[in-house]
Amino acid sequence: MQTNVNNIINFRLPCVCLFFMSEICVIMAINEIRKEIRIIDVTRDNIAEMGIFCIKDKKAPGFKQKVKWFSHKLNKGLRMKIATDVLGNQLGFIEYIPSELAWRPIKADNYFFIQCIALFVKDAKHKGLGTRLIQICEEEAKQENKSGVCVMCSNGPWMVSKTIFEKCSYAMSDQHGRYELMVKKFKKINQNPTFIDWTKRQASYKGWNLIYSDQCPWHEKSVTVLKKSALDSGIDLKVMKLNTPKEVQNGPSGFGTFGLIKDGKLLEDHVCSLGILL
Ligand SMILES: CC(C)(COP(=O)(O)OP(=O)(O)OC[C@H]1O[C@@H](n2cnc3c(N)ncnc32)[C@H](O)[C@@H]1OP(=O)(O)O)[C@@H](O)C(=O)NCCC(=O)NCCS
Repeated sequence: MQTNVNNIINFRLPCVCLFFMSEICVIMAINEIRKEIRIIDVTRDNIAEMGIFCIKDKKAPGFKQKVKWFSHKLNKGLRMKIATDVLGNQLGFIEYIPSELAWRPIKADNYFFIQCIALFVKDAKHKGLGTRLIQICEEEAKQENKSGVCVMCSNGPWMVSKTIFEKCSYAMSDQHGRYELMVKKFKKINQNPTFIDWTKRQASYKGWNLIYSDQCPWHEKSVTVLKKSALDSGIDLKVMKLNTPKEVQNGPSGFGTFGLIKDGKLLEDHVCSLGILL
């Protein structure tokens, strides 16, 4: 009897241990594979299939507008990279463009301008992925003999904060209201990227005005809501879509691609609903 028990302990226990160890190894291997990141170049040819990262619903009007915007001939040199895990789950993205064509009120010659960067998957954050996306942009900027990379930052809504750029050795080149313009130069040049003062043009907007562009896919939804709220409240809301980078750069909003203005005063510069403003 005692011999049987010993046999079981001597034979079965190591088997069980081996089984659990192999299970743990498989789980660790899967986790390692999951950690592998792929960077996908979004192009006019694959955007409909790859998507635009921010909005998953490909039937949403904002999605369709952004795809159209992305493929517009005006956006020459526009890049979008989406980071996925090996299973194809999208983790984050970066969008950048030659600075002369920035859809923000900036003046910068021969830079790349980061228009948006975001990681929406919590588990993917703080593991260096944001830094990697920024480095990819910088490498391409160097290959194209750009003077550097610049980006508009803010601690407020709908914009990346400057912390990650400070860690990537960017310095502030201009500041206006809640916005900071950060730059990393590759060459010794005196001229810094600067903001174009958007406040000067606000006075010319009489009554209720809403300006927006399709650069951000969330604007379409907000514009629809605002139009309806205005109609319900009997407000005569003039809606104007900005169709070129020049219109945005010389527009009345710091955010550039969105602005709700009443009698020369900018009420909101990011997606909002009219209800809270009445
Ligand atoms: C900014 C953002 C892209 C950073 O992404 P991220 O992948 O977390 O960035 P990184 O990991 O490269 O670096 C950020 C932090 O992680 C740290 N880090 C870098 N590599 C790391 C690693 N291997 N392990 C642990 N931490 C790391 C960095 O030092 C930094 O530290 P901090 O948290 O103290 O600031 C992300 O936080 C984000 O999407 N924010 C919202 C941006 C936004 O609002 N955009 C507009 C949307 S409309």
